[in-house]
Amino acid sequence: MKRLLLCVALVVGLAGLWNTGPAYAAGKTDQQANAPQTPPAATTGAPGYVGSETCLTCHAEIGKSFATNPHSKLALMHNGKGITCESCHGPGQAHVEGGGDITKIFLPSKATAKQVDATCLGCHAAVHPNFQRSPHAKAGLSCISCHSVHAPQTEQALLKLPQPTLCMSCHTDVKGSFDMPFHHPVNEGGIRCTDCHDAHGTFQGSNLRITADQNMICTKCHMDVRGPFVYEHAVVKGEGCMACHTPHGSQNARLLNMPSINTLCNQCHSQVSADSIHGMGAGSQELTPCTGCHTMIHGSNINAAFIR
Ligand code: HEC
Ligand code: HEC
Ligand code: HEC
Ligand code: HEC
Ligand code: HEC
Ligand code: HEC
Ligand code: HEC
Ligand code: HEC
Ligand code: HEC
Ligand code: HEC
Repeated sequence: MKRLLLCVALVVGLAGLWNTGPAYAAGKTDQQANAPQTPPAATTGAPGYVGSETCLTCHAEIGKSFATNPHSKLALMHNGKGITCESCHGPGQAHVEGGGDITKIFLPSKATAKQVDATCLGCHAAVHPNFQRSPHAKAGLSCISCHSVHAPQTEQALLKLPQPTLCMSCHTDVKGSFDMPFHHPVNEGGIRCTDCHDAHGTFQGSNLRITADQNMICTKCHMDVRGPFVYEHAVVKGEGCMACHTPHGSQNARLLNMPSINTLCNQCHSQVSADSIHGMGAGSQELTPCTGCHTMIHGSNINAAFIR
């Protein structure tokens, strides 16, 4: 019996090597050796693989919920040689012959982040090519920090928790911003974290989504301020929306990043606002907000000073 098991282990070991390439040479544990790195296109029939039907003879509960999993769609494609249990768990023959030996099967929740990511990205790299250089990957998160394959809590995208609870469970510092007097209605369901961020990483700072111009992150919803205008307020196009607004939440109305509109404008226009054109003595500036006259602050098609 022992010798038989040894033989099986050897076959599985070889299958692992064949499947995953030289990265899995000597010195790896069984867990690691079983991790599939490339999409195992034709796993059924390959040495060491037994097929999903065999798994389901013992794991019927998992099978029931898996029937509605998006991963099952592929199982029906390519003559039924698509995704199987072993696409993610690696070859299962040794596990089966050991009567469910848990040291002979790849369990993502016990593997390293890199191994999990490699398994998932074997198929999903085209959609999420930036993940490995994202702040999330660098902080040691893996796909299953946010996704749950067998027990998802959302209809879409197999998430562990719905948004924004998912994101706020770790980003407790950000949570507070959305309780401020003025905030984007994330908790109210009017907008999601992922309308502005891509959790899988981008080439922008702060995981921000990439858009045609940087302001499109905002103007896809706030179309009235998008322009183009005959008279642009240079700062809107140059520095972008964040020059005057804060994205999450603020003590200040209109999500402004300064308590007083005049202080905000005077950061860049101190000389102008004090000069005689405005006919305002010292003190009156604070009473009349600049935008009381410069109403078209994001740009105008009529007036170069954004009066109309
Ligand atoms: C002969 C019955 C049997 C078959 C067939 C079987 N398993 Fe298992 N499996 C078990 C048992 C028993 C356990 C341990 C359950 C426990 O500890 O709760 C287990 C545990 C697991 C675990 C969790 C391992 C861990 O570390 O906790 C995974 C993943 C798994 N099986 C996947 C598979 C896959 C994939 C297949 C098909 C290739 C498969 N099993 C086929 C009996 C089986
Ligand atoms: C798309 C990848 C993927 C596929 C396909 C897949 N699993 Fe899993 N499985 C996982 C991940 C990831 C975990 C770790 C727990 C989690 O994230 O849900 C897991 C956990 C498990 C466990 C451990 C139970 C637990 O809750 O921790 C068992 C048993 C299991 N899978 C069996 C199966 C069987 C049987 C199939 C085929 C019907 C299958 N898996 C198909 C990714 C997959
Ligand atoms: C063998 C290829 C393969 C592997 C390995 C794989 N996936 Fe998938 N995944 C697919 C396919 C195919 C679909 C369904 C088609 C689609 O919606 O793009 C899918 C769908 C998904 C979806 C989207 C579901 C939806 O509602 O749109 C998520 C999320 C996902 N997989 C996560 C994972 C995670 C996490 C892992 C690793 C534990 C993983 N996948 C491993 C091929 C794979
Ligand atoms: C920090 C959390 C987080 C991590 C880590 C993460 N995802 Fe996602 N993923 C999400 C969220 C949230 C969505 C839903 C996006 C949306 O609704 O716009 C999603 C959506 C997806 C989808 C559906 C297609 C899409 O882009 O909408 C796939 C496939 C997917 N993720 C795969 C992966 C894979 C593979 C990994 C690991 C390499 C991974 N995810 C890591 C949070 C995460
Ligand atoms: C499991 C914990 C966890 C979850 C869940 C999570 N994050 Fe993160 N996130 C982190 C860690 C850790 C970092 C890197 C350290 C840091 O910058 O805080 C990070 C970084 C980020 C950054 C970049 C911060 C910067 O300064 O560049 C953004 C943006 C972000 N996460 C948004 C999200 C969004 C949106 C979600 C939900 C879809 C989410 N996170 C879910 C833990 C998590
Ligand atoms: C309206 C778009 C938008 C929404 C919605 C949004 N963010 Fe952001 N977030 C941004 C922008 C823009 C920045 C960059 C701010 C900067 O560079 O000044 C940012 C920065 C961050 C950062 C890094 C800097 C910091 O403040 O700590 C984290 C983490 C973050 N967001 C997480 C989240 C989470 C979690 C959610 C959902 C609960 C969320 N964001 C919702 C636009 C948004
Ligand atoms: C997914 C759509 C969406 C995106 C993307 C978005 N917003 Fe918003 N924004 C909203 C909604 C919804 C409100 C709340 C409107 C209300 O309560 O009347 C809002 C409110 C605001 C307000 C306050 C408006 C007021 O009348 O008080 C400002 C300012 C604002 N957003 C700026 C931004 C900026 C800057 C960005 C980019 C970082 C952005 N928004 C991205 C949907 C969005
Ligand atoms: C030069 C500073 C500045 C810049 C840059 C700026 N805004 Fe504003 N924004 C303001 C001020 C000031 C108000 C308040 C106007 C008022 O109270 O009459 C405002 C108000 C808003 C409002 C509330 C509704 C409205 O139209 O008055 C939205 C939405 C908004 N801004 C979105 C944006 C977006 C999106 C961008 C980037 C494309 C942006 N802002 C860039 C200063 C700016
Ligand atoms: C971050 C810097 C910055 C902030 C803040 C700012 N602006 Fe400007 N503004 C500029 C720049 C740069 C120009 C273009 C100057 C030029 O062409 O000489 C400009 C142009 C203008 C013009 C047109 C000037 C002309 O010569 O026709 C007006 C009016 C104006 N801003 C008003 C405001 C008001 C009101 C606020 C506050 C709501 C404000 N600005 C906030 C940078 C800023
Ligand atoms: C009582 C109305 C009013 C208020 C309040 C006001 N402005 Fe003006 N501003 C004007 C008028 C009128 C012009 C001249 C427009 C023209 O030439 O068409 C002007 C012109 C400007 C110009 C262009 C100046 C130049 O030399 O070309 C800037 C910049 C400017 N204002 C900034 C500000 C700032 C900053 C504030 C707030 C501290 C402010 N304004 C408050 C009415 C006002």
